[in-house]
Formats: sequence, structure tokens, C-alpha cells
Amino acid sequence: AETGCLSIIVLGASGDLAKKKTFPALFHLYCQGFLPPNEVHIFGYKRTKISDDELRNRIRGYLLGERSSSPSEDVSEFLKLVKYVSGSYDSAEGFQLLDKEIAMHEISKSSQEVSSRRLFYLALPPSVYPSVCRMIRKYCMNESDLGGWTRVVVEKPFGKDLDSAELLSSQIGELFDEPQIYRIDHYLGKELVQNLLVLRFANRFFLPLWNRDNIDNVQIVFREDFGTEGRGGYFDEYGIIRDIIQNHLLQVFCLVAMEKPVSLKPEHIRDEKVKVLQSVLPIKDEEVVLGQYEGYRDDPTVPDYSNTPTFATVILRIHNERWEGVPFILKAGKALNSRKAEIRVQFKDVPGDIFKCEKQGRNEFVIRLQPSEAMYMKLTVKQPGLEMSTVQSELDLSYKQRYQGVTIPEAYERLILDTIRGDQQHFVRRDELKAAWEIFTPLLHRIDNGEMKPTPYQQGSRGPTEADELSAKASYVQTHGY
Ligand code: BG6
Repeated sequence: AETGCLSIIVLGASGDLAKKKTFPALFHLYCQGFLPPNEVHIFGYKRTKISDDELRNRIRGYLLGERSSSPSEDVSEFLKLVKYVSGSYDSAEGFQLLDKEIAMHEISKSSQEVSSRRLFYLALPPSVYPSVCRMIRKYCMNESDLGGWTRVVVEKPFGKDLDSAELLSSQIGELFDEPQIYRIDHYLGKELVQNLLVLRFANRFFLPLWNRDNIDNVQIVFREDFGTEGRGGYFDEYGIIRDIIQNHLLQVFCLVAMEKPVSLKPEHIRDEKVKVLQSVLPIKDEEVVLGQYEGYRDDPTVPDYSNTPTFATVILRIHNERWEGVPFILKAGKALNSRKAEIRVQFKDVPGDIFKCEKQGRNEFVIRLQPSEAMYMKLTVKQPGLEMSTVQSELDLSYKQRYQGVTIPEAYERLILDTIRGDQQHFVRRDELKAAWEIFTPLLHRIDNGEMKPTPYQQGSRGPTEADELSAKASYVQTHGY
């Protein structure tokens, strides 16, 4: 492993993302020994002036999260590593000061010169990415002769459509090379998302079945049982497709649908993801259902006339040998009846069925990403007893039971560790991002222009009934033809 000084600079240090995700992830990495205090320093950069202690107090309350195993001494020890620097996001002064602080810390860790690793985590709105990147490039790069690196971590929204995303990519791309840029999609850090490649390519079971001959449809579903909760202003500009489907669900889609990569090298994996995205056919209007929950516009930051969907079902179709004709039903919604993210792979009916078991449902393979990670296979078995009748049952792998006592790391924890290690497998490459925007941009423009309107649905419901009808129809047509 690389050694030398590691400086982690969190820009936007007291924003929501930093408080709720970045600092807790850093803390858990620290507790597990991945951030040794004799090498690491953490800087919080933000506009308003506060003292080190104030910053520490602001983040202290968020550090433990749901895990209570770390004693409070750990919290205090960790917070000692956090130093605060203030400055604006476009001023030379602030970034020169930041550079000075980082250099001082690098010198203080060793009497000789050591290699320097600098990780800039932009927990900021994308509007300031270009100026912040320019400042980092100009004033804060690692210039040690002894090696090391400078990396930047950014998170969505990467633009609002193809053109704006490409503009942002080229602005950042002029300043940093692709291997220095880590675009986070936190779904790629989830345990069961990371498991998808293993499942698909390390199991003989699945190899011959994973195709149009056997699979009827694939559903990738995200539900939340709460609304936009104070984020209405942000959300209204983006909507559910940009917030969840174009990124999180599409990443999951790639891993479910892509071909086997040549190897596990990050570039090989990302090559395959790009290919499958490029094989997606244009989305048809009649294969889209949009919804907006009732009461969404009551949020004072949301305009009364808002046309922004808080729910969408979109069917994607892949034009290749493996998947021709198979609907991939991507569904996401806020303020629904439950909180869940899962992948449902529905198999076709058994041909020439002698048990007449159609009414019991088909074989299905379900991967539940959250809550309570699990995988289960629905299959038909004989109903135990004297009669010869069938029933649908499950082969069930629930992580809580099977892996008792194993803590599943938070997505951000894993992803930050990857950025330190220089592993880009679970990050979105520029051409991948472009291909993702190419799929959704025409639809998004139609929605933005008011050509497609969301149907109202009740909070706490399953979303608009049209969405269920669309999924049922897609699956019926696939099996029975038009
Ligand atoms: C974020 C979205 O990217 O993901 C939020 O902006 C959403 O709207 C969140 O609530 C969901 O993440 P998770 O990990 O809770 O499923």
C-alpha cells in the first residue's frame, strides 16, 4: 500500500452531505484503522468563518449514526484530526491558505520530505465544481518529487441533460485527467450491488438462464415512504428521473444486463457498462408513466404549477442478442407505501406445464438491496402433505441470518476507501455518464417542456395505477405477443 501523508479535504464541510455521509464514513474508516493518525489529516473547507471546535461540534452528533459500537473516545480522537479552513469557492486567497495548511501538515508528519496524497471531496453543489476544480488545479496540487497524487471526488447531479453534463465534464476534464476524477454514485457502494457481478459470473446456475430465452422481464425498483422533506427546492429542479433513475437505477441496470467483462479491471468493467448503455433503444412515450404525489406542491419552495415527477416507471429495451424483447422496468417513487430497493428477475412460464401452476406465479429471483439485504428465489414445490398439489416457496438468503455479526459497510465508507486506494471500478466514467444522459435526455426535455405530465397519486400508495398496468402489459406482451 502507498504510504506518506494523506490529506482529505472536505469542501462544503458543514453541508448536509458532508455531515450525514462524508464525515461519518471517514470516522468509520478511522475506527477500522484505514486512516492512521500518523499519516492522515482531514481538512474541512467552508465559506463562513467558524473555529475548529465549532466545526467539530457540528459534525460530532452525526458520526456514530446507526452504529453504536464505537466508544466516544474514538470520536474525540478522530475529531482531533479535523482542522478547519475558511475561504470562498472561487478565491485564490482561500485556496492558497488551504495549500499552506496541507503543506504544513505534510511537513509536520515527518522531518524529511514525504510523498503526498491529496483527496479533495467536493460536498458542494455542481454549480461551483468548475471554479473549485480550477482553484485546486492552480493552488493545491501535490507537487512532491517523491510521488503521491491529487484526486477529486464529485457527486451528482452531473448536469441536467446531455449538453449540460458534457459541458461540466469538459470543464473538469480540462483540469484533471480521468484517473484523477472519482464520480460517486453511492448505489455502486451498496453491498448487494457490488455482489451482482459475482452472482452473475461466478454461478453456473445463472449463466445459461440469464437471457431472453428464459427471462420474461426485469424490474428494478426504488421506493421511499417519505416525500422530499425540506429538499423540495432542489428536487423540483431535477425530479425523480434525474434524482434516482438516470443514475442509481441505471447503474444497477448496467450490472444486471452487461456482458461478462474481460477481467475485473475497472476499465474492463466500465467498458461493458458503456456498451450495454449504448445498446438501449430510444424510450417510447407509451412506455413511461409519471406521477406526482398529492401535497408535493404544498412545500413553499415548490412552485404551485410544478410539473416535476416524484414517481416514474420507464421501460428500457436493449437491442442485442441477449436481451432483444425483454422489458427492463425501472420504477422509482417518493412518498409511497414502503421503503425498498430491489431487483426482480422474472422468468418465463414453464413450457408444457403439467401442474397447471401458472396461478401460483413464475420463478422469480429477487435481490433486495435494502432494507435487510437479501436474495431469494421463488420456486414451485409440492405442497407438503398427502395431496399432489403445488405451492410457491422460497430459497432464501437473508444477510442478517446468514452473516450474523458481520457489519455491512456503508456505501460511502467503501467508496472513499476506493478513492484512497485508487480503484475506480465503482465510479462512473465520463463516457458512461454521457451514455446515461443520451438515454434519458429526450424524455426529460419532453417533461420539462410540459409535453408529458405526471398523474397525481396519494401519499402512501403504490403510485399511479397506470404504472402497474404498464408493467403488467409489458410482461404480458413479452410472453404472449401483441
Ligand atoms: C439520493 C437522492 O441520491 O439517494 C435522494 O438524491 C434519495 O433523493 C437517496 O433519498 C436514496 O439513497 P438510499 O441509499 O437511502 O437509498
